Amino acid sequence: MPQPETTMAKLDATTPQPIQLKDYTPPSFLIDKVDLTFDLEEDHTRVTSRLVLHRNPAHPDARAALQLDGRELELESVKLDGELLDSSRYELDAESLSIAAMPDNAILEIVTVIHPETNTSLNGLYRSGANFYSQCEAEGFRKITYYLDRPDVMARFSTTIVADKQKWPVLLSNGNKVGEGMLDRNRHWVKWVDPFKKPAYLFALVAGKLSLLADRYTTTSGREVALEIWVEPADLDKCAHAMSSVKKSMQWDEQRYGLEYDLDTYMIVAVGDFNMGAMENKGLNIFNTKYVLARADTATDVDFDGIEAVIAHEYFHNWTGNRVTCRDWFQLSLKEGLTVFRDQEFSADMGSAEVCRIDAVRTLRTHQFAEDAGPMAHPIRPESYIEINNFYTVTVYEKGAEVVRMYQTLLGRDGFRKGMDLYFKRHDGQAVTCDDFRAAMADANDYDLGQFARWYSQAGTPVLRVRGQYDAAAQTYTLEVSQSCPATPGQAEKLPFHIPLTLGLVGPDGADLPLQLAGEAEAVAGSRVLSVKEASQTFHFINVAVEPVPSLLRNFSAPVKLDFPYSRPQLVHLLAHDSDAFCRWEAGQTLMLQDLQGLIDAARSGGELELKDDFVAAMRRVLADESLDPALVALMLTLPAETYLADQQDEIDPDAIRAGREAMKLGLARALRSEFKAAYTRMLDSGAYQYEATAVARRSLKNIALAYLSELDESGLMELAERQFAEANNMTDAQAALACLVNWPEGDAALASFASKWADEALVMDKWFTLQASSRRLGVVAKIKALMQHPAFALTNPNKVRSLIGTFVHNNLAGFHAIDGSGYEFAADTLLAVDKLNPQVAARLAGSFNRWKKLEPVRRAHMRAALERVAAHAGLSRDVYEIVSKNLM
Ligand code: PHE
Ligand code: ZN
Repeated sequence: MPQPETTMAKLDATTPQPIQLKDYTPPSFLIDKVDLTFDLEEDHTRVTSRLVLHRNPAHPDARAALQLDGRELELESVKLDGELLDSSRYELDAESLSIAAMPDNAILEIVTVIHPETNTSLNGLYRSGANFYSQCEAEGFRKITYYLDRPDVMARFSTTIVADKQKWPVLLSNGNKVGEGMLDRNRHWVKWVDPFKKPAYLFALVAGKLSLLADRYTTTSGREVALEIWVEPADLDKCAHAMSSVKKSMQWDEQRYGLEYDLDTYMIVAVGDFNMGAMENKGLNIFNTKYVLARADTATDVDFDGIEAVIAHEYFHNWTGNRVTCRDWFQLSLKEGLTVFRDQEFSADMGSAEVCRIDAVRTLRTHQFAEDAGPMAHPIRPESYIEINNFYTVTVYEKGAEVVRMYQTLLGRDGFRKGMDLYFKRHDGQAVTCDDFRAAMADANDYDLGQFARWYSQAGTPVLRVRGQYDAAAQTYTLEVSQSCPATPGQAEKLPFHIPLTLGLVGPDGADLPLQLAGEAEAVAGSRVLSVKEASQTFHFINVAVEPVPSLLRNFSAPVKLDFPYSRPQLVHLLAHDSDAFCRWEAGQTLMLQDLQGLIDAARSGGELELKDDFVAAMRRVLADESLDPALVALMLTLPAETYLADQQDEIDPDAIRAGREAMKLGLARALRSEFKAAYTRMLDSGAYQYEATAVARRSLKNIALAYLSELDESGLMELAERQFAEANNMTDAQAALACLVNWPEGDAALASFASKWADEALVMDKWFTLQASSRRLGVVAKIKALMQHPAFALTNPNKVRSLIGTFVHNNLAGFHAIDGSGYEFAADTLLAVDKLNPQVAARLAGSFNRWKKLEPVRRAHMRAALERVAAHAGLSRDVYEIVSKNLM
């Protein structure tokens, strides 16, 4: 194991201190009202803030000082109740402004100057091109003015924006526009008032030259809402899908949860420079362009899906996040896990529920299981953090959503709705905790969720070990279930979780057997949910007429790893017959994983790389079955990611993983060549592009068939990809064909024509970078470096960094892990350069080191050296420091 003492010692002088959940105390003051004025200029912005405050009776010290958060601010003046304070009356440091002698009620007026024009962090107020945008979650508001920048301080905001009318004609903020007018020097002003109390993280401001797509929506109770999407003028023809997604989301939340929108205007603004996907600022959501802009020829089906889901997500936050918010940032999953669950349920209702569920499970397993097994493992409600921005994770979001889903699985859909209703009844307008949510679910259903709390406090992926025993004479089937959870940093021992285990028993004819537990009067048809609460537990099924194959963890009823010793014929049986689509897919994946592991082992030891006949036959049947949903067929034929395979190894050899996985692709392509060709032809569609479930499903199967066929080095098949690339009337087909071509010499011409066609479309150029960063051609580090010089690339733009560098370090396992360590050197250099500009984006790149301890020894040594070099770098951000130091612990 590494001895990082020397490196750590160097860091000690400036070591950032962790913030602990157990140290939570209520704020010493509360803010009733805040009036902001922004004077926007090219070379600075002046912010005047008027705060109405009162002492918080809930704070333990009735004479406590007022300590306002603030960073990178130039303080011009502070007035307390109208009196200008000289610097002896307050204390100022790099992170705060403190006033010791405070009356119980006060009005504070603070003037600060900030510099959005040089702010590359995209946090606080910043410029993108000539326009101004803000991003305040989690702690960006303190870069705008001195404030109690914590979510349990909720105030009523008004915002006046003053700016040159020619340069910044559109001036937006939260709430309702209440006035506007002209001033001297051709400047204009607009005033906005938000009637709802909100924490500062939901504040937003936008100013610039923007075009508007406008529409209307009438809520069930008859409220007329103006819907507005604001984008750069050139993008106005790519907003229709986003607008229809808004309307669908509004309608769905009314039908499913009885929740209506609460303001007269709902605004969405799209910006090309954005750290995350989108942000739910009250009444003024700000989105990454990636999750707004789509036209058939510029965006893929996956992009259309993503837009629909993210639009829904941000809209749903208006209730789960804004009306009821988080007490502190440790409770982040309260709003994020719940809102992801809500957007998943929405997407399931919009398209294929089965396909959505399998996609969600794939994401969870590929990314969250990896996080749970690495140095950054944390529970969905973390207990400490150094930089909160590092905790916008797949654990808080996706595992958080799985935890919310388990309430619904245990309580039923109606029970879950009752819990939601009670949650809003109790907590509307409040800043609350995950325990408050759990209490609402328990109380509304009179259900004991005491043990369920462990899902919030224990990190790691539990393993559910299940063994089955059929007794033909007694006609019983006994399931022995035991659970365990591996140690994670800071948590050696785990207590048993409350796990909902949804299951069925599949008979020899493929139909579900009736389910009756010993002691029960009647049997249940189909599936049922067992509550697993003990470390070990036994379930006795009676009246089981024939030996069943158990179908376990149906619909992925809990975020756990299942350990059941299925035989290959049992897996083939489930793949063919299980009434649960997730389990059918899972049976195929289990077979596939077993064989992939065999291939990887063979690649490592120099053995034969051959596929097993029963597996090939099963895949042949899947591919030929025209009664199946083509989207499900495509998913069944999709191989797990290289990184997921890496996480199944005791010691990672990236070259063996690549070789094994490529052998599986080639083997299937050879064996099923005619079936793939038939499926490709069957799925061809000559009509105009439509984003609609059936058409999307057909394209997904067509394009996976093309991907397999292009593995075969045959000119006719290469022509198929070239023809599809040249003739495609939509980006889904064009990109899929290009993805096949890039691995071959034919790809160069296609890449060049793609780049010249789309040079002015930033989001399409992102795809061009992504495709090349995932290429399996040799010498990819040099290629990436060359692409960083391309005019469309910019180190300051997060989408570009993610497309090119993020894809390479996170997804191109064999490329990044080149045996000479060149990938790690490149990652270290690049993340240090990015850290100077944008620490949040740099920290995400640093996550590419998280697997280092599991690598084979040569690469492990290279990676450790790169990590130590980063750790020793002077002036590291807290964001990167946290990731790197936890890796070296
Ligand atoms: N709260 C945003 C969401 O999940 C994500 C986000 C976090 C955006 C931090 C920006 C900054 O919808
Ligand atoms: Zn969210």
